[in-house]
Amino acid sequence: MDETILKRRSYRSFSDRPVEKEVEDRLLEMTLRAPSAGNMQLWSMIKVRDPEKKAVLARTCDNQAFIASAPLVYFFLADSHKWLEYFRFSHSGEKAGKEVRKPGPGDFHLCMQDAMAAAQTCVLAAESLGLKSCYIGDIIENYETVRETFSLPDYAAPACLLVLGYPRKELTAQMLPRPQNEDFYFTDSYPQLTEEQLDKMYRAQNEHSNPDHENTSYADRYFERKYSSDFMKEMNRSAGIFLRPWME
Ligand SMILES: Cc1cc2nc3c(=O)[nH]c(=O)nc-3n(C[C@H](O)[C@H](O)[C@H](O)COP(=O)(O)O)c2cc1C
Repeated sequence: MDETILKRRSYRSFSDRPVEKEVEDRLLEMTLRAPSAGNMQLWSMIKVRDPEKKAVLARTCDNQAFIASAPLVYFFLADSHKWLEYFRFSHSGEKAGKEVRKPGPGDFHLCMQDAMAAAQTCVLAAESLGLKSCYIGDIIENYETVRETFSLPDYAAPACLLVLGYPRKELTAQMLPRPQNEDFYFTDSYPQLTEEQLDKMYRAQNEHSNPDHENTSYADRYFERKYSSDFMKEMNRSAGIFLRPWME
């Protein structure tokens, strides 16, 4: 298991080999073993098979073409909607003599924790079955199109997209570095951060992405490529729309 975790890396190029039904069944069974708040599975997953819908996602997720050709595309949702429906069918509110309140920010957060626990269980299960995967965080962009394409109700919010399949070829490039334990983890309370501490924390990533040792930091590159990018602007706009019902 430790090797499965330590050797995992994101793959974006998959072979045409279809994932056998028995393998996918096992993958989905393992995914459902994820821990879940109250064992309620406050998440859903839409398996995207329709090539047209895959093409829509390739476009709405910041034009990442490899999504369209991935053998498996799984769309994870943070889902209070199905429990509202279950309460309604079961007349749970009437039986308890209580109003069925609208889901709030706490419900959203719990659903999101559940959805991501399931997605990461799926990622590690896939590795153990010889499959490779990649998260697509850009699924939170262009909510209006995504909502229409997948008929999403309120309170079923995009959590993440996973693309999976057998690798086209083993990757030979170095794995992406991570911080060292002693530089990364805090103990007992949140510290007053210093520039030196953050530089040390992200030293390996800085050196990896900045081999020419230009006078820039990992912060400069993250700021330029991600934090101030148009796609992050779109993520914030789009997520603001699907979060609205939970925040009312
Ligand atoms: C929440 C989340 C969103 C991500 N979104 C994308 C994405 O949209 N496109 C992509 O190619 N990789 C995406 N990734 C993969 C990361 O780029 C990758 O995990 C990171 O660079 C570290 O590389 P590694 O997984 O190979 O160690 C995402 C990962 C996470 C956890």
